[in-house]
Amino acid sequence: MNTFIINKTIAFVPRGVVSQISKRFFYSLPDVEYKNSGLKNFLSAEALNRHLKLHQNDVERANNLVQRTPWENTSINQAISQSFNSAEDAPFFEAISSHFNHSFFWQSLTNKKNLPSIYMQKAIELDFGSINAFQKKFSQTASSLNSAGFVWLVFHDKTLRIISTFGNGSPLELQNCYPLLCLDVYEHAYMHDYGTDKNKYIANFWNKVDWEFVENKFLNSLVTDREYKAKIAKLAEDQMEAYVESHPSKYIDKDEI
Ligand SMILES: [Fe+2]
Repeated sequence: MNTFIINKTIAFVPRGVVSQISKRFFYSLPDVEYKNSGLKNFLSAEALNRHLKLHQNDVERANNLVQRTPWENTSINQAISQSFNSAEDAPFFEAISSHFNHSFFWQSLTNKKNLPSIYMQKAIELDFGSINAFQKKFSQTASSLNSAGFVWLVFHDKTLRIISTFGNGSPLELQNCYPLLCLDVYEHAYMHDYGTDKNKYIANFWNKVDWEFVENKFLNSLVTDREYKAKIAKLAEDQMEAYVESHPSKYIDKDEI
């Protein structure tokens, strides 16, 4: 028997349980609010829960491998950007990067219907021409990615870009790269519900994107770039003014009625 003093109370713990008690848990699955219902017309609850089990394995691996490393006291973002180019840290990087990618994926999806705000629309138009052109390019990138990986919308070098990461690679390997949205295109993400019809999985994804999440990530990436933020705000404002001018009947002041 091993003896521990917990809150001045002596506790007796069987020898095999010692390592479990002394282990700290650093990473955990995010709260997936649609876990029981699934994402209607995108992913069934069964497919989601199978996928979450794979994610849970990554979380457990990450919690084991982070013990007694310099990353016990850093954020996951720092751990990823500091461990990705070290062969010695590859198993740890693979686990935390997969955990980060999957957490990002779950958080960027919702059953609540929502569309990009005018602010987000203007930012996307600036770099892709239109929302449709952006979605088409993103979908084509996802469709043509033959290996396992993720497709991302990121903000990098003052530009919205679409990038792919292979295996458990991370967008955080790029300096000053801010991920905004991602799609898991591993076979395990769509085989259960779609078989080999990956393109249908990609098309249905667009009905479930949480644009509020995307915009929050985008605004966070602009915290230190007031100039860019103001530029997009001006474009959005101009569009609103143009809309009001072209639809005057919708905006009559109540006092004038
Ligand atoms: Fe996955």
